[in-house]
Amino acid sequence: MNDSEALAEITDELHLPGDKLRRIAANFTEEMLLGLAGKKSSLKMLPSFLGQPQGLEKGEYLGLDFGGTNVRIMLVSFKGNGAYEVIRHIEFPLRDEKKGYDYTQASVSCEELFGFIARNLKRIIKRDRLYPLGHTFSFPCRSAGVNQATLITWTKEFETVGAEGRDIGALLEEALRCEQVNNVIPCAIINDTVGTLLAASYRDKGCDIATILGTGHNTSYLEQRNCWSKEPMIINIEAGNFNLLPLSGFDRLLDELSEKPREQILEKMVSGRYLGVLLKLILVGLNERGDFLPGVDLRHVLKEKDLTAQDISAVLTNAPDSLPYKGHLFCFGYGLMVKTTHDWQCLYKTCQALRNRSARLAAATYLGILRHIDPLLEKPHVIAVDGSLYEKMPGYAAVLQDALQELLAEKADRVKLKLVKDGSGVGAALAAAMAHNS
Ligand code: GLC
Repeated sequence: MNDSEALAEITDELHLPGDKLRRIAANFTEEMLLGLAGKKSSLKMLPSFLGQPQGLEKGEYLGLDFGGTNVRIMLVSFKGNGAYEVIRHIEFPLRDEKKGYDYTQASVSCEELFGFIARNLKRIIKRDRLYPLGHTFSFPCRSAGVNQATLITWTKEFETVGAEGRDIGALLEEALRCEQVNNVIPCAIINDTVGTLLAASYRDKGCDIATILGTGHNTSYLEQRNCWSKEPMIINIEAGNFNLLPLSGFDRLLDELSEKPREQILEKMVSGRYLGVLLKLILVGLNERGDFLPGVDLRHVLKEKDLTAQDISAVLTNAPDSLPYKGHLFCFGYGLMVKTTHDWQCLYKTCQALRNRSARLAAATYLGILRHIDPLLEKPHVIAVDGSLYEKMPGYAAVLQDALQELLAEKADRVKLKLVKDGSGVGAALAAAMAHNS
């Protein structure tokens, strides 16, 4: 087998044509229905106990956004006419190699993690007033009401000990009490997709689906008929756990190497947390077949390192058919140099194939949701999107848009994608406004 055949084999395996996407969409709809009916399904379909906001909510509320290794806290002022303003915000990492701490690892307890968050929260509040707080916690949680959320399982490779099975609201309250923060009133805990849907629909009622395409991947939507309330309710699908999917050998390998094998299969194919890992596995595979960077022991060079979604973005910023940087040199940031056109093609086409598969899979799941909420696409829909892949990876938004166009054909103009930045923080504050006044 010659070199380009090895590459073609991989890119072919990663390509998902329209008919496969339609099958995936149909399976996704079925799994949604099973999940809603409480039957066995890879989709958890978790109730949020919130519907769309009225757009009239007013006042200042705190939003705490905890969904990855960076936590953000913001004070948001809602104006009551669909407008809002972020008055103050702070951001801090849960992991900092230079400062020597990592609150995401298994040697740390959840009390220590929430204590750290509570101490940071003090930096944004004043002593002389009350702050209702909404908390976005972007992990699968089962709730019995808007201010209660039991963590089912960590995702995105978090390992902090003692949190699974615990009420996250109670953990935060306890941490605030220990830090003597008495003027912050936690009122709501929501998922980031729910926050994004709230923030987007505060301005535009047409938004009934929200999705995150970033470190993690997930989607929520407004369910008209549900067993929890007579009113429409936002459901967190936990779409990242969907598993009726055509896996390549590299997906299987990544799954085996992950913290939680056989969980979050869609997320492992779509999200930024895993795309770089897949790239590494594929490049090492090509290298071992003598195809990519011959003469370099790539497995050894990348032993302790993962490639990242940012690496993929950096590759895709360049033109496909020319070596970048005129000097015919591409440094990968790991002491690696791609000098030949063939190696560059291997690298570029693999990145392109991973990006395209991610965006096309996401599009298939949106089709699955639309088929459930509006089978004939009689109404217009806005899908709010947040996350670094959609916002920053070159070509990602266009591939997603094209895939939707391909799948929805003549109805494509009924569905719009809309970037909503900071949705989970603003949405958390909005959830507090809705819960506090209800
Ligand atoms: C993971 C979490 C999910 C979250 C998503 C995006 O999939 O399980 O709750 O919405 O990441 O942050």
